[in-house]
Amino acid sequence: DFPRIGIDAIALAVPRRFVELTELAEARGIAPSKYLTGLGTRRMAIAAPDEDPITLGANAARRLFQRSGASPADIGLCVVGTETAVDHAKPAASFLHGLLGLPSACRVFEAKHACFGGTAGLLNAVDWIASGSARGRAALVVCSDVARYALGSAGEPTQGAGAVALLVRERPRLVEIEVGQTGTYARDVYDFWRPLHHKEALVDGHYSVQCYLDALAGAYGDWRRVAGDGDPLARTCYHVPYGKMARKAHRHRLAMDGLTEQAADESFAVEVEPSLDLPSRIGNIYTGSLYLALASLLNAEARALEGQRVGLFSYGSGCCAEFFAGRIGPEAGALVAALEIDAPLDGCRRASVAEYEALRQGDEAADRRPAPEGAERGGASLDSRVVYLGLDS
Ligand code: CAA
Repeated sequence: DFPRIGIDAIALAVPRRFVELTELAEARGIAPSKYLTGLGTRRMAIAAPDEDPITLGANAARRLFQRSGASPADIGLCVVGTETAVDHAKPAASFLHGLLGLPSACRVFEAKHACFGGTAGLLNAVDWIASGSARGRAALVVCSDVARYALGSAGEPTQGAGAVALLVRERPRLVEIEVGQTGTYARDVYDFWRPLHHKEALVDGHYSVQCYLDALAGAYGDWRRVAGDGDPLARTCYHVPYGKMARKAHRHRLAMDGLTEQAADESFAVEVEPSLDLPSRIGNIYTGSLYLALASLLNAEARALEGQRVGLFSYGSGCCAEFFAGRIGPEAGALVAALEIDAPLDGCRRASVAEYEALRQGDEAADRRPAPEGAERGGASLDSRVVYLGLDS
């Protein structure tokens, strides 16, 4: 029996605009079927200048409080997982601490490990509660990123932007995590990285796919050793840089259990596909990607899955990966209906490829503009202007 700790509520924030990938394919002279079927992508959310990781993260967290009934006063730990930092030293969690009105007796920090940063935050929050340090308080874990590859590159159709906020506490209503039973894998590789002088990610694309699969094999193998005896996983959510990667992952994992590719593809439709709806409408949101897949699964099937065991796989380039499991709460269905997880997508509108490219050019111009007055306060003066512009009322 595990201590009862896990995800009590979940909320999203997404940028206002998205690009239809059929239109991007046409603009790039590529067959749309490559993006739709070859990569399993449909749309990518694109961020305007006032939609940075801080505003997206703050909006997701504010929605979490509004919808879950929790209060900022309940929070004793706030971790922001991001690989789109706005400052080398000041963590995104400090901006959120101010914007959300979190208590002063609150540990705040940013966790960076490519797409693994959100999971690092979540598992640390779980351990913080299990250790007794929480003393009845809850943790807020926010995963927030803006994915950016060079225009016209192979990675371009796998962009996305958005934030997922998780409320982590004892007796969680959504997903009880199997505490202390994770399978882990790490290795020093150069598959995907964002050097300090680069806004866009650099990636060795096909190698990154192999690194992901190697890490899955390592983490899943480790998990089977520590936790494999429990009841079967009814569903599995994977880190989703693009939908096809989840299909490759599922085949790879089930091959380790002795299943054929055909059997894996048959189970994919039931066990994985429901988790891919939101990722296909938003794209890769890096740290939040696994939790967007989980949100998608809950949105589609929370009621049917009450009491069932779900696998979760997180991969961060560089690399570190973790495989773990959780159980869907006995009344998760009713809570998910009240959370209206996908409602933030209702207000989004299609942007043309020209509008998307103009936003990207605007970004580059913003990086070259002279430092604003008060620049001795580092990024904060510039960033807080952006922050206040982009917050939902
Ligand atoms: N119709 C249907 N399918 C088509 C097609 C067409 N007209 N043309 C090509 N395809 C298929 C290909 O057969 C291929 O399928 P398989 O993967 O099943 O073999 C698929 O479309 C992709 O084609 P390519 O391999 O030619 O793709 P590419 O060279 O353009 O690059 C990519 C693909 C490497 C994933 C690239 O998009 C990329 O670099 N993405 C960013 C990196 C990334 O997401 N890596 C994932 C693992 S790392 C990670 O997960 C961390 C993270 O979040 C970044």
